[in-house]
Amino acid sequence: MVRRITILGSTGSIGTQALDIVRQHSEKFKIVGLTAHHNIEKLQEQIDEFKPQAVCIADEQKAGLLKTDAAVYTGEKGLEQIAILGTDLLINALVGSAGLIPTLAAIRKGTTIGLANKETLVLAGEIVMSEALKHQATIIPIDSEHSALFQSLKSGKQSEIRNLYLTMGKGKIALMNEEELKNVTMQDIFSRPAWNMGTKVTIDSATCMNKSFEIIEAKWLFGTTPEQIKVIVHPNYICHSLVEFNDGSIITELGTPDMRRYTQYALFYPERTHATVSSFTDLYGMTLSFEKPAFEKFPCLKLGHLALEMGGIMPAVLHGADHVAVKAFSEKKIGFMDIPRVIAATLQKTKNILKPDIHQIIQAEKEAQETAREVLLG
Ligand SMILES: NC(=O)c1ccc[n+]([C@@H]2O[C@H](COP(=O)([O-])OP(=O)(O)OC[C@H]3O[C@@H](n4cnc5c(N)ncnc54)[C@H](OP(=O)(O)O)[C@@H]3O)[C@@H](O)[C@H]2O)c1
Repeated sequence: MVRRITILGSTGSIGTQALDIVRQHSEKFKIVGLTAHHNIEKLQEQIDEFKPQAVCIADEQKAGLLKTDAAVYTGEKGLEQIAILGTDLLINALVGSAGLIPTLAAIRKGTTIGLANKETLVLAGEIVMSEALKHQATIIPIDSEHSALFQSLKSGKQSEIRNLYLTMGKGKIALMNEEELKNVTMQDIFSRPAWNMGTKVTIDSATCMNKSFEIIEAKWLFGTTPEQIKVIVHPNYICHSLVEFNDGSIITELGTPDMRRYTQYALFYPERTHATVSSFTDLYGMTLSFEKPAFEKFPCLKLGHLALEMGGIMPAVLHGADHVAVKAFSEKKIGFMDIPRVIAATLQKTKNILKPDIHQIIQAEKEAQETAREVLLG
């Protein structure tokens, strides 16, 4: 059966990988919708090749430049509209809080979601998961660590989980001492990643804030307590997270670091299909070693648990503050180690709201950006 899919953020790193897989299995998929923010040239190429029924360009001014017979939606509202066109699967590969409302809209239609956009769960995990349960919408994580956990968790029951371990690699920045960390540059950061990612997620990986976001995502996706979610360093990065069950069995998913495996898993779920991306022989000579993370060198690593402990709007505040701090760093306005300082100060300055609704969460994320800008000035 042909699977009808829409990809939000089709011009980004995950979005283009998803389309590569669709291209390889073109008889299995029909593209319903594609979206971009500004990248009109890439979106036009994708329109010409995949002939979607609808497209959305978030930047409204650029809509007139598209040459297409497809329905053209624009802006935030357009993302929401395209997300609820009848599809079998919505891949959310947007970056940032723009991903939240379209995901919720699709969930309320009972759509299966392939979720790469981590902000959806970081900002509003409790609401998103309860709506998914209510509308029987399946969420298939695409983030490698969560896809690995999702797959490993099929070995036991939720009540049998002892701990979830999120793995993190050990690149150039992890090896730096505290003095060197103060002078990290964008060049250092972009020479590190195991695979190509968008700018924001690459900087978040370097500060380890990405791992904090993953802790929050895992808590909501898998319904454990925050204390059950641990982080471990795994230098070879061939094991993409582990589940430890009550009987001491540890189950993991192994493979070379390649996001296409996880994107493909979501596209075909619950089936598995052939892939050219990795094979067992690629793992010859690799070692499975684990280390404790250097929490003292990477303060962002503790902020995910802290925000979960504070609850309410605080995960959204964490995200808003990080957004501003990362931008300031990428514009060379602050140093690498100022990023956790700005975020921690923003958390401290914010009055929490417990049990927030979705509007309060979105507002809190915006206000946190303002507070973080004030922290930067002060
Ligand atoms: N890349 C990875 O390996 C990876 C791994 C795990 C998880 N993730 C998560 O997956 C998500 C996507 O990451 P990515 O690396 O693919 O990001 P990316 O390369 O920056 O792509 C983001 C996509 O979203 C669009 N977009 C950005 N801001 C938007 C806005 N305000 N409104 C509408 N569309 C917007 C971009 O359009 P334009 O192209 O027009 O700018 C692009 O299509 C993130 O949440 C990230 O944390 C990524």
